[in-house]
Amino acid sequence: MSVVARNVTVCSPLPVLGSGVEVPLVSGEKVTYAALDYAASAPALQRVWDDVAAYAPYYGSVHRGAGYLSQLSTDLFEQSRATVAEFLDLREDDQVVFTRATTDSLNLLAGVLPSGTRVFAFETEHHASLLPWPGRGLEVAYLRAPRSPHEAVAALDAALTAAGEGPKLVCVTGASNVTGEIWPVAELAAVAHAHGARIVLDAAQLAPHHRVSVRELDVDWVAFSGHKLYAPFGAGVLAGRADWLDEAEPYLAGGGASRTVARKTDGSVAVEWHRGPARHEAGSPNVIGAYAIASACRALAEAGLDSLHAREQLLIERLRAGLAEVPEVRVLTLFGEDHPRVGVLSFVVQGWNSSHFAAALSAEYGIGVRDGLFCAHPLVRTLLGGEETAPGECGAPEPSLPGERSLNAIRVSFGAGTPEEHVDRFLAAVRELVGNGSAWSYRTEGGRCVPDTRR
Ligand SMILES: Cc1ncc(COP(=O)(O)O)c(C=O)c1O
Repeated sequence: MSVVARNVTVCSPLPVLGSGVEVPLVSGEKVTYAALDYAASAPALQRVWDDVAAYAPYYGSVHRGAGYLSQLSTDLFEQSRATVAEFLDLREDDQVVFTRATTDSLNLLAGVLPSGTRVFAFETEHHASLLPWPGRGLEVAYLRAPRSPHEAVAALDAALTAAGEGPKLVCVTGASNVTGEIWPVAELAAVAHAHGARIVLDAAQLAPHHRVSVRELDVDWVAFSGHKLYAPFGAGVLAGRADWLDEAEPYLAGGGASRTVARKTDGSVAVEWHRGPARHEAGSPNVIGAYAIASACRALAEAGLDSLHAREQLLIERLRAGLAEVPEVRVLTLFGEDHPRVGVLSFVVQGWNSSHFAAALSAEYGIGVRDGLFCAHPLVRTLLGGEETAPGECGAPEPSLPGERSLNAIRVSFGAGTPEEHVDRFLAAVRELVGNGSAWSYRTEGGRCVPDTRR
């Protein structure tokens, strides 16, 4: 069934695996699990699972077999590349490299940057975009957390103006994994290019929720993870300009990346490396992972990313309106309440430790969210108003007592498979926990808050 919102037809939730799974509560009852942690890993689309299952009997080696199934698997792998290129609206001469995930993609890119490249990243980035650059002979400038898109663009402009000549790379996240807020990617790309810099888009949180056109955004590279795009089979993508990738040493040295290997008279070996994606895909490729990503790209494109986005906006409005009725809840935001966002939202609850709150949502209501600093420690510390240079804290503090000031936050995230009922259940649980407190006591075990069932 479809409804119409703001002239866009809104589709029903897409079928995902696990939507009927029952989980035990601490009380001993069972409830249907409400998966509200899509930003960490989204459930597989049923369509992706079906496509993978249909292919599985035909599985064979890729780029290294004369048999029928090897040829078929090689074709499927290469077709998957083409599907991803279409999904991302790549330019003619861009290339798609299959990796393990976004972290892998950005580390690959860090390794191919020309020596002396200066890298610019906002301190608000996920650690995957923050950490691959130092220690490789690159100069890294971390830009302070901007409080508006305009401030972000101005800060980048100023930093690049001061940087002068030489190769430069800007790394920016499309949508924050903490606040869900969408960054001004096209504007940042325009500034980067005006200063002769290149730009890579971390689309880990954007691509599952929003159309990403490399041509329109005019970014040089884009990275994303299959497991956040409903295709949890161990693959990710780095796509974009070929030149720096082709000029660099392979990411991994080994078979598949090498075109010829010859013994030299001095006993060493001379290697000629491939150009193109194979150069950075040494070893046997993950054909199932790549095919799963391609299947997800097709499924999202067919459902209509605009329509999925519109549906998600309705869920976001519902969630925000519900949370606004609970005065103890503070939603974390960098760019302000009305800034466009995807289905990712973090908050703290006055009087509650976040780990305790998240544990109670799971143990007493069967709702899966995430607590912590979400691999974006500097950003969350800024948003919580903590001491700026203090290290972040993962897991529950010891001892984790209700009422203790929270040094971490709770994140709720959803997407194409989320029914309205999950958002409503979550809101009802938040109201009940804030109003009545948790029904169980909790203790800290191995850095996690768990219900104390020893009584
Ligand atoms: C914005 C962002 N970038 C990068 C990553 C890293 O993705 P992966 O763990 O799949 O490598 C994440 C993961 O949460 C993320 O949210």
